[in-house]
Amino acid sequence: MKLLLENIKELVQVEDEPFDFRAGKEMATVKTIKNAYIIIRDEIIEDFGPMSALMDRYRDDDLLIEIDCSNRLVYPSFCDSHTHLVYPAPREKEFVDRIKGLTYEEIAKNGGGILNTAKRLHEMSEAELYNEAMHRVIEVIKMGTGAIEIKSGYGLNVEDELKMLRVNRWIRETAPICVRSTFLGAHAIPLEYKNNPSKYVDIIINEMIPQVVAEDLADYIDVFCDKGFFSVEDTERILMSGIKHGLRPKIHANELGLTGGVQVGVKYNALSVDHLEFIGKEEIEALKDTETMPTVLPGAAFFLGMKLSPVREMIDAGLPIALASDYNPGSSPSGNMSLISAMGCIKYKMLPEEVINATTINSAYAMGLHESYGTIARGKIANMFITSEMPGIEYLPYSYGSNLVETVILNGEVQSF
Ligand code: NIG
Ligand code: FE
Repeated sequence: MKLLLENIKELVQVEDEPFDFRAGKEMATVKTIKNAYIIIRDEIIEDFGPMSALMDRYRDDDLLIEIDCSNRLVYPSFCDSHTHLVYPAPREKEFVDRIKGLTYEEIAKNGGGILNTAKRLHEMSEAELYNEAMHRVIEVIKMGTGAIEIKSGYGLNVEDELKMLRVNRWIRETAPICVRSTFLGAHAIPLEYKNNPSKYVDIIINEMIPQVVAEDLADYIDVFCDKGFFSVEDTERILMSGIKHGLRPKIHANELGLTGGVQVGVKYNALSVDHLEFIGKEEIEALKDTETMPTVLPGAAFFLGMKLSPVREMIDAGLPIALASDYNPGSSPSGNMSLISAMGCIKYKMLPEEVINATTINSAYAMGLHESYGTIARGKIANMFITSEMPGIEYLPYSYGSNLVETVILNGEVQSF
């Protein structure tokens, strides 16, 4: 099948020469074509350019479906490189506890938080979890997400971690978006190992990782390396074992303190280090000229009222930044990447262009998908969205709270909801 999108007011984030990500000053660069067309054949982007260059050979084709995009912009789908969207139930009661004054860490210490979700997950079947999660997957697809990473980490024992990862695989096999799966057995220390966390680390290393790998259930390995969670030493042990089994790290780092998470991530060539609320000069230096994508999660900082990651300083130091939703029940119960884009501009003083790079090509890189997703490029997978009528790229992060995603195309097919 062929699709022709024509009269596109502005085709956003087009790529002629392949690149992995944009960093530093380059983050303010986004190439666009005004009054453009794009041709999609099957699931692939075949061609694009200005309307003046649209050749008759396309228009004469009987098998062509034409979509008029007058006054509308076309973007590559958002890439959301950090979510925990397989979970059993929301945690709105803890939300109220926090309004009344408890902190996220205090709730976690009392057996709430991640451990509370783990308890409920234990009682649910794979099919129930899948159904819950698929609602969220469809929800984010409608909001423009076309590639997503999903972590485990609410199992915290061998069987339940495997159950979560099997749900990830089921989503990957049945949802129209691209899914990357991350094993996060080291998300929290179960109560029974509170006084002996290294025993739980042993289970992760000796039991979980080998089974995860034997069933081919994960692309990446993650550790919540932070104050009150996993130490740098434990993180190193887990990452070494993961790497030995072919799992590249992507880690939760520096959300709650200056704990060395960034440095350990860089040391083990993590694909990304995520959160980064606590970042000093040393962390910025450690990240320079590495293959590790600094990833900021504005939803979590907003929802928990945390201090903000120094994004401006990092970009000015020449680093790339990816933005992701962190969609999860405790710290960021939303996967709305348009809203994340707005937060990028409003709270972190990123330019609209910087936000586009952070939510497309840079976040695609942060889950190893930049060669197939994240830009409008010939040969890439045709995942994109058509906006409702709007004036230009500044308008999307400006109009926070609106869903301007009108039509979603995934694998070259227009999605109907
Ligand atoms: O990325 N920081 C650790 N993990 C999640 C929160 C998970 C939860 O509270 O359920 C996060 O914010
Ligand atoms: Fe997270």
